[in-house]
Amino acid sequence: MKRGIYPGTFDPITYGHLDIINRASKVVDELVIGVLNNYSKDPLFSREERVDMIKTLVKDMPGVRVESYDGLLIDFAKECQANFVIRGIRAITDFEYELQMSQTNRIISPEIDTIFFTTSLEYAYLSSSTVREVALFNGDISRFVPECIEKIVKEKISKLNAKVEANEQ
Ligand code: COA
Repeated sequence: MKRGIYPGTFDPITYGHLDIINRASKVVDELVIGVLNNYSKDPLFSREERVDMIKTLVKDMPGVRVESYDGLLIDFAKECQANFVIRGIRAITDFEYELQMSQTNRIISPEIDTIFFTTSLEYAYLSSSTVREVALFNGDISRFVPECIEKIVKEKISKLNAKVEANEQ
């Protein structure tokens, strides 16, 4: 049984992440999507919201499940008894960080390898912060995220805007 984990912040999940999830799920028997409770970022969505969004999208994908984690990625990988960490590389700018992380992880746990997928060209430009920023200014995010996620992002942004307006009054 080959088990891979695909970790990330997923704030929110995008078509770029889904592209990696689809492809990675074909090379491992079980794929665990690990949602990081990221203290170094200030996510728009709570951990539960991010997990729920992904669960909705992968519910019909056999062998794919969603979990959240705190702390080191490699500890989460060990906890899951994963053989592989899956990461997507969009551009050369991702490479240096990813290389360093995979090498550090191999020193800590040589039995867990990293598999890199090159992100499909149509999503090479995409990031979750782009989605958040475009949505914040009422731009069209329908080409970046599935319809159900678009709805959730818009609702979140309008709640935030309403809160800001109320505070300003
Ligand atoms: N398509 C589209 N966007 C993608 C993408 C893809 N295939 N792959 C990554 N991205 C984007 C994300 O949307 C995100 O965008 P944002 O920064 O604008 O929000 C950005 O690339 C990076 O996100 P992500 O892949 O989720 O990684 P991350 O940097 O948030 O977290 C972890 C990386 C999860 C591996 C890592 O930080 C972690 O687990 N940290 C815990 C501590 C640890 O173990 N550190 C490593 C020590 S060696």
